[in-house]
Amino acid sequence: MKAGTSLPRPRWEKGRKELQPCESAPLGGRAAGRGATLGSGPGASGGRGGAAGARRGRSRAGRPRHFPRPGGRYGTGWRAWVMAGGAAPRGAELLAFARFRDSSPQPLAYGYGPRSLRDMREREFGRLAGTVYLDHAGATLFPQSQLTSFTNDLMENVYGNPHSQNISSKLTHDTVEHVRYRILEHFHTSTEDYSVIFTAGSTAALKLVAEAFPWVSPGPESNGSRFCYLIDSHTSVVGMRKVTTAMNVTSIPVRPEDVRAAETRGTAASDPDCQLPHLFCYPAQSNFSGTRYPLSWIGEVKAGRMCPMSVPGKWFVLLDAASYVSTSPLDLSVHQADFVPLSFYKIFGFPTGLGALLVNNRVAPLLRKTYFGGGTAAAYLAGEDFYIPRQSVAERFEDGTISFLDVIALKHGFDALERLTGGMENIKQHTFTLAQYTYTALCALRYPNGAPVVRIYSDSEFSSPEVQGPVINFNVLDHSGNIIGYSQVDKMASLYNIHVRTGCFCNTGACQKHLGISDEMVRKHLEAGHVCGDDVDLIDGHPTGSVRISFGYMSTLEDAQAFLRFIIAMQLHQCDGQPLPPTTPGEVGAPSESEAQDAVPATVDRCSSSPWEDAPTDSGVSNDLPTTVAAVGLHPPLPMATRTQQIPSEKAAGVLDGGLGPRVITNLYLYPIKSCAAFEVTKWPIGSQGLLYDRSWMVVNHNGVCLSQKQEPRLCLIQPFIDLPQKIMVIKAKGMEPIAVPLEENGERTQICQSKVCADRVNTYNCGEKISSWLSRFFGHPCQLLKQSSNFQRSAKKRVKDQSAGSTATLSLVNEAQYLLINRPSVLELQQQLNASDANGKEELFPMKELISRFRANIITSGTSAFEEETWDEISVGSLRFQVLGPCHRCQMICINQQTGQRNQNVFQKLSESRARKVNFGVYLTHTSLDFSSPAFLSVGSQVLPVLKENTEHHELPASTEHQDVIS
Ligand SMILES: Cc1ncc(COP(=O)(O)O)c(C=O)c1O
Repeated sequence: MKAGTSLPRPRWEKGRKELQPCESAPLGGRAAGRGATLGSGPGASGGRGGAAGARRGRSRAGRPRHFPRPGGRYGTGWRAWVMAGGAAPRGAELLAFARFRDSSPQPLAYGYGPRSLRDMREREFGRLAGTVYLDHAGATLFPQSQLTSFTNDLMENVYGNPHSQNISSKLTHDTVEHVRYRILEHFHTSTEDYSVIFTAGSTAALKLVAEAFPWVSPGPESNGSRFCYLIDSHTSVVGMRKVTTAMNVTSIPVRPEDVRAAETRGTAASDPDCQLPHLFCYPAQSNFSGTRYPLSWIGEVKAGRMCPMSVPGKWFVLLDAASYVSTSPLDLSVHQADFVPLSFYKIFGFPTGLGALLVNNRVAPLLRKTYFGGGTAAAYLAGEDFYIPRQSVAERFEDGTISFLDVIALKHGFDALERLTGGMENIKQHTFTLAQYTYTALCALRYPNGAPVVRIYSDSEFSSPEVQGPVINFNVLDHSGNIIGYSQVDKMASLYNIHVRTGCFCNTGACQKHLGISDEMVRKHLEAGHVCGDDVDLIDGHPTGSVRISFGYMSTLEDAQAFLRFIIAMQLHQCDGQPLPPTTPGEVGAPSESEAQDAVPATVDRCSSSPWEDAPTDSGVSNDLPTTVAAVGLHPPLPMATRTQQIPSEKAAGVLDGGLGPRVITNLYLYPIKSCAAFEVTKWPIGSQGLLYDRSWMVVNHNGVCLSQKQEPRLCLIQPFIDLPQKIMVIKAKGMEPIAVPLEENGERTQICQSKVCADRVNTYNCGEKISSWLSRFFGHPCQLLKQSSNFQRSAKKRVKDQSAGSTATLSLVNEAQYLLINRPSVLELQQQLNASDANGKEELFPMKELISRFRANIITSGTSAFEEETWDEISVGSLRFQVLGPCHRCQMICINQQTGQRNQNVFQKLSESRARKVNFGVYLTHTSLDFSSPAFLSVGSQVLPVLKENTEHHELPASTEHQDVIS
C-alpha cells in the first residue's frame, strides 16, 4: 500500500476518529538494531527536553515551568505537523520530547518545580527501579515517606476504638474528624456544605447511594423515579440498577452524545415544581478512555436547565470521581454534585480498602437508612422495632467501627502528595503532558505501508487536560491492520517489565462503543467461554478488549519512552519478521551484563554423575530398550542412575527410529521444584500424580506466595537432583554449596500449612530453616521451600474421558495436568522459523536442546510431522495409556533462556505468529488405567503409539477453556 494512505477500517470501527496518515519512517534505534538510538532525541534520557530540561525550566515559585508556544489548534511545530497529517519525522526524532514540547500550542508542564522528579523517584519509589508501571488508573503507588510517617504516627500514639470514651479513643475520634476536614479541604469545600461518609471504596459508596436514595416506585401518582447513568460508566455504577430494578425504578443508560445534545438544546424539565427525585450518574473521567466529561453538567442538571431525559421531577447528580481525582483537582465549591464517591488508593496508593462518599448536606437528610449497625444508633430497643439514628449523616451511615487507622493514614497521604508535588493542579499538568506526548508519538507510528501501528480508542485528541485524563486506551495492529490480541501485548510488555492493564476495564459500555462490540456479540463471547478479566482477547478476529496505559504523579518521561520503545520494537517485528530485540543491559526488564556472565547454564551439569560433583558420566543412549529398573536405585558414588545419562537426543531419536517405528520418547524431564531447573532422566518411576517427584516442591516468598519464573527468572538456575536411594534431593546453584533436603516429610513433626497453586488450595509443609536461608541468600530476599504433603490429594479440574464418577486424576504442584508432551518435529519447525528470521542467517540462535528446555515438558517424542500431537486423542507407551487433554496455551515464560535466566529472545512472538496467535505448544496428558500394584516406569527409547482423534482436524478452544501454561 502506498505510504500515506490509510487502510480500510473494519465496519464495526466506523465513526472512529481517523488517525492521520504519515509517511512511513524507518524507525532506527537500539531496538531496531540499526544504528540510530530510539529516544535518542534530546528528550530521551534527561537531555534537553527530558528531566534535565524540565529542571532548567522550573520557576522559582515551585510551580512546574510552562512552555508557552504560539500557533493554531495544534501549534506550528512538529505536533501540528503530525496531527495535521504531515510526514512523520524519522525514528530518532519520533521520541524527542523537546521538539514535541516546542511544537505545543499550550504551555506544557513537566515535573514539580524545584522538587526534582528524578530524586523523588529514587527516594520515594526505589522499588520501581527496572519497572515501568503504567496502571495508575488501576491503582497508583504510595511514596515511601507516606508509610514511614504513618507508621511513626502509629508507633508514637495510642489510638483506641473511636466509639469508646477514654483518652486514646478521644484521640482517634479527634484525628478522624480532622481527616474529614482535610478531605473536604482537598476538594475545596468544608463541613458547611459536605459530609464525609467513610466506606470501603467507591463501589461501596455507590452501593450506599443506590440503597439510600429516596427512590419513588411507580404508582398511581407518578411514573416513579428514574435512574439514569452514562453508558461510559464503571460496572459499579451500572450495578446500582439491580437495586433500583427491585423497586421498579426505571434505569436508563444514556450516551454521552445524548447528554451533550441535551446540553446544547437546554432540555428543561417539563414541570419544574415536581419534586419526584431522579438520579443522574456520570464519571468525571472515563476509566476506559480517560475522557473527562464536563463538570458543568452538574450545575446544569441540578438547576433543571439540562435534563438527561425529559421527565417531570428533580434531578440529583452523582459524580463518579474515582478515576478523575487521582490526577486532577476537584473543586466542590464550584461543582456541587450531590454525591461524590471515591477510593483513596487511587489518589495516593495507600491505604487500600478505604473510600468515601461525599454527600452534599442539602440532600443528606433525604437519604434512607435500611440496616443499622454499631455506632449509628442514637437509641434502639433490642426487643422491639425501635431505632433512632444518630444526627449526623456520617454517624448514621458508617455502620460498625470504621477502619480508623487507615483513616489516619489518609492524613499522611495528603501531606505526602502536597509535599512531593505541590498539589493536584501540578499533577494534572504533569500527567497530561506525558499522556499527550505518548499519544502524539503513538499516532505517528506507521508501518512502511502507511498502516497505523496502534488504534487508539479516545473521544478527544488529547488537546487539553480539561477534556482528557492521562489514560491511553488502544490495541496494537499488525501491518495488515489486524488487531494483535491484548493478552499477547500484555505478555510481551511483561517481558520488558512494563505493567499495563488489559481487557474491558470494568466498563463494558465504553468497551462496546469503542471496539464496536454489539450486545449480541457480548452474549456470544460469553457462550464461547469468555468472561470479564480472562485472557481470551480475540474471538473470530474481533477484539474482546484492549490495552490501557495510565500515568500517575510520579510517572516520568523515561516511563513513556520505555513504553514507546516497546511498541516500536513490536512494530519492527511485525514489519520485517525480526525477533523482538533483546532488552539491553541496564534497560528495564533485562538482567545486566554482569548478571548474564554470572549466570550458570541451569542444565549444564545434567550429565554429572552425582549431584555433589560435576563429573560427566558416560553419554549415549542405551540401545537396549529399558525393560528393567536397573537405571534406578544405585547409590552414589557409583554413577547415580537416578541421574540421567547424558543423551544426545537427536541421536537417540535417530537410532531408535530405525527399528521401532517413527515415534519414541527421546527425553524425559522432571522439575522437582516448580519453576526451577529440569532434572533429566532416562527411566523414571511413575507416581499417582505424574513422574515421581515432578513439581513436588515450590519456592514461596515471605508471604507464602508461590514464585514462578515470571517474577523470578533466576529460579531456573536452581538445579535439583533426586537421589532415590538416599531419599534426598540435592539442590545446587552456582556460587552456593550444594544442599540436601529429604524426599519425604518427617511424620508427626511436620507442620502442615495451606498454600495456593493456580487458585487451588494445597496442603504443604515447610522444608526447614536451612534450605530457607540457602534460598534467601541465593535470591537476596526471604524465601522458603514448601513440599506438597504426601497425604494431600489435589484433584485435576479436567475430567478424563471415560473416567468413572468420583475418580479424578490427582495433581502435584503443576499448573494444569500431570504431564506435558512436546514433539520434536514441532520444535524443529519453530526452530527453523526462529533461525530463518536471523538477519545474518549465520548464527544458530536456538539450538534444539535450548529451545526444548524453554517448554519445560516432561516427555519429548520424536514424531513424523509438526503438531501431529494435537491430533492425538490418546497415546500408549508400553502398557501405559495416557489421555491427551488438549494443547498447552503458552505465556511469555517461554522467552526465558533456561540456561541463563535471561529473557533475550522472542520465541513467544514467533510462536504466536506461526500458530495463528494461539500460542499453543505441546499437549497435556494424564495417565489412565494405572495399576499401582506393580511399579511403572517411563523410559527414553520407548515407543509411543498414538490413537488419533475421531475428527483429526484440530479445533482450537478459546484460551479460557484451554489449559494454561504448564511452564512453571
Ligand atoms: C470510574 C470508576 N468508578 C468506580 C470504580 C470502582 O472503584 P473501587 O474498585 O475502588 O471501588 C473505579 C475503579 O477503577 C473507577 O475507575
